Amino acid sequence: MENGLLVLGIESSCDETGLALVRADGQAVPRLLAHALHSQVEMHQAFGGVVPELASRDHIRRVLPLTEQVLRAAQCELAMVDVIAYTRGPGLAGALLVGAGVACAIGAAMAKPVLGVHHLEGHLLSPFLSQDPPSFPFVALLVSGGHTQLMRVDGVGIYQLLGETIDDAAGEAFDKSAKLMGLGYPGGAALSRLAQTGDPTAFKLPRPLLHSGNLDFSFAGLKTAVMVQARRMVVSHAGAGARDDPAAFGRLPTSQQADLAASTEAAIVDVLVRKSLSALQQSGLQRLVVAGGVGANRVLRRQLGEASRQRGLRVYYPEFELCTDNGAMIALAGAMRLQAGCAAANTDYAFDVLPRWPLGFS
Ligand code: KG4
Ligand code: ZN
Repeated sequence: MENGLLVLGIESSCDETGLALVRADGQAVPRLLAHALHSQVEMHQAFGGVVPELASRDHIRRVLPLTEQVLRAAQCELAMVDVIAYTRGPGLAGALLVGAGVACAIGAAMAKPVLGVHHLEGHLLSPFLSQDPPSFPFVALLVSGGHTQLMRVDGVGIYQLLGETIDDAAGEAFDKSAKLMGLGYPGGAALSRLAQTGDPTAFKLPRPLLHSGNLDFSFAGLKTAVMVQARRMVVSHAGAGARDDPAAFGRLPTSQQADLAASTEAAIVDVLVRKSLSALQQSGLQRLVVAGGVGANRVLRRQLGEASRQRGLRVYYPEFELCTDNGAMIALAGAMRLQAGCAAANTDYAFDVLPRWPLGFS
């Protein structure tokens, strides 16, 4: 192919509309030409979480202007696009339908093939767009707002689930704890900022399933322990009347707030680091890929960095801006699947979406 394969990627599984263009030349890792993103975080903040119906409506508003934006940035025209990749799942049904519907409508109008992509496959391949890409095989730690999984990755499309959360995801543990602390939604990054001045050993919080002997996670109990501790602190500072006041935690001395935030972050990170190291040890692999929004956490990065230096392991991350949801990872995953010959784009445009879609096939 003279100019390689130009793939347009559309991500709309949750609260970010992401568009991107990648070019795949031969078997080389596809190059990112341009990407554009609109985050709905501000819109959902007033409700303390993602409102699915609002998310779908906003994706409808954003998807075409963002498509024009990436085409302009890459100096391409829609007619030059060879394949349109879109997130087929998992995610919010209505939100997914917007991306899938637009992808298939553009495909039908332009007579271009389309390809549905797994959102988590996008996350786990996203470090291939970084300056320091990994090579196969590796262990992937997928840590997002909805998922916490350890996977063995032997190649594109060759994934084996090693362990996953049996209840809340790591991002959910960050978000729910942050909400208890009055830090808004999604609060993972805000909790981490507050934690910077705190003492991570100030409160003894549970590390669920740490010694379970398998690679599964559980974070629901941690959230409850954080809630109990936060209430205890509020009552001892402002009296029993403040127990259920959501704003009371924010009136505690900043150092106390920071101590609980740091202890919470330490508990989550501790489990993620130790289970990742166990997965590497059990699989005999030396490379770890960390992907998904929680991969942006600096304490997690620091601890994985220290542990890997001591053990001669390598840790790979997506570029910082591609840690959270984006269109680049969807365009990339689509392009890599086509290159690997493990998927074929189609032109029947009879799309569906898969809100619940396990990524454990091999
Ligand atoms: O991958 P992502 O953008 O969306 C999903 O597919 O869910 O991940 C979002 C999650 C949220 O739970 C958010 O609080 C968390 O990633 N997150 C963080 C940080 N930045 C984002 N958690 C901890 N520390 C951070 N710096
Ligand atoms: Zn995601």
